[in-house]
Amino acid sequence: MTVILHIDSSVRAITNDNTEHNSISKALASLFISHLHSVTNIDEYIHRDVGVNPPQFITQDWIGAVFTPEAQRTAMQRQTLALSDELIAEVSRADVIVISSPMYNYGMPAQLKAWFDQIIRINKTFDFDLARGDKPLAPLLSSKTLVIITSSGEFGFEKGEINETASHLVPHLRTLSKYLGVEKIYEIKSEYQEFGDRRHEQSLQTAKSQTKALAAVIAEKTSESL
Ligand SMILES: Cc1cc2nc3c(=O)[nH]c(=O)nc-3n(C[C@H](O)[C@H](O)[C@H](O)COP(=O)(O)O)c2cc1C
Repeated sequence: MTVILHIDSSVRAITNDNTEHNSISKALASLFISHLHSVTNIDEYIHRDVGVNPPQFITQDWIGAVFTPEAQRTAMQRQTLALSDELIAEVSRADVIVISSPMYNYGMPAQLKAWFDQIIRINKTFDFDLARGDKPLAPLLSSKTLVIITSSGEFGFEKGEINETASHLVPHLRTLSKYLGVEKIYEIKSEYQEFGDRRHEQSLQTAKSQTKALAAVIAEKTSESL
């Protein structure tokens, strides 16, 4: 049983009347999914575009509901947590999670952060025990693979590169992935969008090739684990 959860988060669509406004991260993620479909059996495919349909931000009432024991929650509190329950159920079912994200202001879009805030929830996706000393949080989910697909206007966000100190997108996703139960991460990036030059074209072509190759790798790995 292979379940794929695909989360897009750019506010841009894959295709627009002005093609210069097409989302690169969504196009790459779509390419990945279509290649995966062509090389393996996907039992369930769940797709959310949080860029276009953002999850609600969490609130004080949301926190109150989370910290109320389940059996004592009011109908209103259960309703407050309904979206969180639904999103967590999707993550729990997934074997492979694909997150496509633009870089906005050197990090992830607020819409994607809202998705994580709904999901990373005590006694659902992590638990908290001071007996663990200075690292009291532990994830409750496991065995998932994450594919991170990003697009940025600038470039050089890796260690030792020109924009290393402004790199708050992929490092943040890597940190949070632990609480989705991720044990293996693959990363694909397209850079230089704002330069619109040959470097961008090259970066995009490389990302497309890597996307297709990665679909084959993931297909093999998921069939091995069946
Ligand atoms: C609101 C906004 C903020 C952005 N901030 C950054 C940034 O901090 N660094 C960067 O390299 N590119 C930045 N960009 C450029 C985007 O990362 C780039 O256009 C990327 O291709 C967007 O992803 P998409 O094509 O999937 O929509 C920003 C774009 C927007 C619209």
